[in-house]
Amino acid sequence: MTADRLSHAFPDPALARVVDDAFGLVGATPLVRVNVLTEGFDAEVWVKLDHHNLGGSSKDRIGVNIVREAIAAGDLKPGDRIIDFGAGNTAIGYALAGIATGHPVTAVVGPDIAPQKVALLKLLGVDIIPGRPDVERDDPEHWAVIAQRYEDEDPSTWWARQESTSPNPAAHVLSTGPEIWHQTDGRVTHFVAALATGGTASGTGRYLKGRNPAVQVIGTAFAETPNGKGENNLARYVAGEKDLEKDWTANVDGDVLDRFEARRKADVIDFGWHVARTEGLVLGLSSVLSLRVALDAAASAPAGSVFVVFSADSGRDYLAREYDADWLRANDLGHIADRYA
Ligand SMILES: Cc1ncc(COP(=O)(O)O)c(C=O)c1O
Repeated sequence: MTADRLSHAFPDPALARVVDDAFGLVGATPLVRVNVLTEGFDAEVWVKLDHHNLGGSSKDRIGVNIVREAIAAGDLKPGDRIIDFGAGNTAIGYALAGIATGHPVTAVVGPDIAPQKVALLKLLGVDIIPGRPDVERDDPEHWAVIAQRYEDEDPSTWWARQESTSPNPAAHVLSTGPEIWHQTDGRVTHFVAALATGGTASGTGRYLKGRNPAVQVIGTAFAETPNGKGENNLARYVAGEKDLEKDWTANVDGDVLDRFEARRKADVIDFGWHVARTEGLVLGLSSVLSLRVALDAAASAPAGSVFVVFSADSGRDYLAREYDADWLRANDLGHIADRYA
């Protein structure tokens, strides 16, 4: 530990961005090098900090692209309501895009949504409907069934379908991929991103492989997935069993993903506290998951390897849950609270 690291604060004022509209703050997010956790490594590890987007997550990128493509295609008519399900970040992106274009938003969210995200959605005027990701796809409480029902019952409600719509990965072909290529001067060798819809890994990976087919794309997930069957199916899907396609979302592109890795959530939460205290990076849990996977691979990777880890959101969104000692103790994770809190 030296004071040298602090000399990186206050970079050239000429690098400070000026934008004419809030939407100029979607994309062009920073890439930060991991220094302490990579001591002794030959490889480089970098994190793409997408919580620097306007609404605090990578999902601003797809919210903007899905909405503008739907308007251009005539699918989203003036004043129509946008509905979709998800963990909350995409709804924030839709809400911001909706504010700019005059479309109200309904978000179908699961019981695990962070309270800060609920508060932000309410601040942005989003209607929130409870749904569940952890029941069978035909269950009336499944969040996709609820979105479908709202669309069926009201012709002025349009289901954005982030899971399968092509403007989701296209947003990353258009922005995230080119940014990472530029920020690494084309040196990126590995891209590591958590998979939900698959849009980030598939779109960014598609762009990077287009520039350099040798780039390796590693998809990550928690070992305990919401419906309890995702991990095995996804691992087999990525291994080439395309008949499993129906079990995963359309935006997971098996031709782009080279490898799939899962980690236990408890280990990731523990590591998230450690990352904050070593690197000063307060990362969302899916980001910590991907960083863990990247560091495990980078530890034995040769010089010249440049790992880029995708960070979709900030640890600030998890301060009432995984980064809270009381929550940990109430969820059988007290050993993590004992270590850090
Ligand atoms: C926090 C967070 N991390 C990672 C992801 C995964 O991104 P993608 O849907 O592009 O696979 C999401 C998407 O829901 C997310 O909200």
